Amino acid sequence: MMAPPRNAGDSRAALVSVVVALAALLSLPAAVRAFGASDYQDALAKCTLFYEAQRSGALPSSNRVSWRGDSGLLDGQLAGVDLTGGYYDAGDNVKFGFPMAFTVTMLSWSVVEYGNSMGGELGNARAAIRWGSDYILKAFQPPSTLYAQVGNGDADHSCWMRPENMDTPRTVYQVNASSPGTDIAGEFAAALAAASIALRPSDGSYADKLLSTARQLFTFADTYRGLYYDSIGPQARFYQSYSGYNDELLWAATWLHRASGDGTYLDYVVNNQGPLNAAGSATEFSWDSKTAGADILLARQALSCGQTNELYTHIRMAAETFVCYFVNKQVPTTPNGLGYCQDPTLTSAPT
Ligand SMILES: *[C@@H]1O[C@H](CO)[C@@H](O)[C@H](O)[C@H]1NC(C)=O
Repeated sequence: MMAPPRNAGDSRAALVSVVVALAALLSLPAAVRAFGASDYQDALAKCTLFYEAQRSGALPSSNRVSWRGDSGLLDGQLAGVDLTGGYYDAGDNVKFGFPMAFTVTMLSWSVVEYGNSMGGELGNARAAIRWGSDYILKAFQPPSTLYAQVGNGDADHSCWMRPENMDTPRTVYQVNASSPGTDIAGEFAAALAAASIALRPSDGSYADKLLSTARQLFTFADTYRGLYYDSIGPQARFYQSYSGYNDELLWAATWLHRASGDGTYLDYVVNNQGPLNAAGSATEFSWDSKTAGADILLARQALSCGQTNELYTHIRMAAETFVCYFVNKQVPTTPNGLGYCQDPTLTSAPT
């Protein structure tokens, strides 16, 4: 586990800070910015609370959001499976698997690197990860059925209502061997592999289950190649993987290697580095585009193992270029320095 940036070397601290910035960018609700300019403890507490407010399913007695109740209790029924649980996407009631899984990966990365600094929020952060990983375990039926989405985005968006009262169709969308989804299966694999590291200290047997399922997901992703948009159609357009699926394969293999120590995943990266664009020139790290994150993980791996071969040098350079792009403020930042690639006020939701 990495130390907090306080005493770390410059480049390492830079890597760390960008990871924090990115995790925060992707995780914190905009409302956090309205609170005390640098009360990060309060921001962190509100962040984990935000995830509780987004929960779908039967809520446990530990639920801290008093105005939320059970919802989506029949999710999956239309396909004869139990798909209760997980997270609603935003203000709507759709459960979009692709960004939900990325959220689990990023929450896990935050806990893996900074769990020791989270104080009393560590338990809430782990609970947030597990709420998502429990759902991912339900949504993947090995070897090759993955439920990608619950809820029809068009029907849902045509009538805004609280999930406890919703009566919109809870249509279930799947990918499988004949209609594959390498991008979404890759992200599911990354999420469970990362979650296995984050949750291992608190529950070893659950972490084993996450890791073994992550391996199966990766095999499914790699064996049956295709974009989930091409398999399930326009309903995937809300979170279409515009960057293709190679970044998810790279990202998943990298997390699987870190979670398992199994060298075959590193071999996979080395042997497929060209098509995977392993040392790509990323200017964004997002729910769609993960190459920069994988490069940072791989560069860290190379640093800690003293690897200096040509591939690692390239990947490390790619990671450093990406980090410099943020550190040198080539992107807009919030008043307190949080970098962001896309101005949310300029990004309109798909229709
Ligand atoms: C595989 O997924 C496609 C796309 O969602 C679906 O149309 C098809 O029915 C699925 N196949 C099976 C055997 O369920």
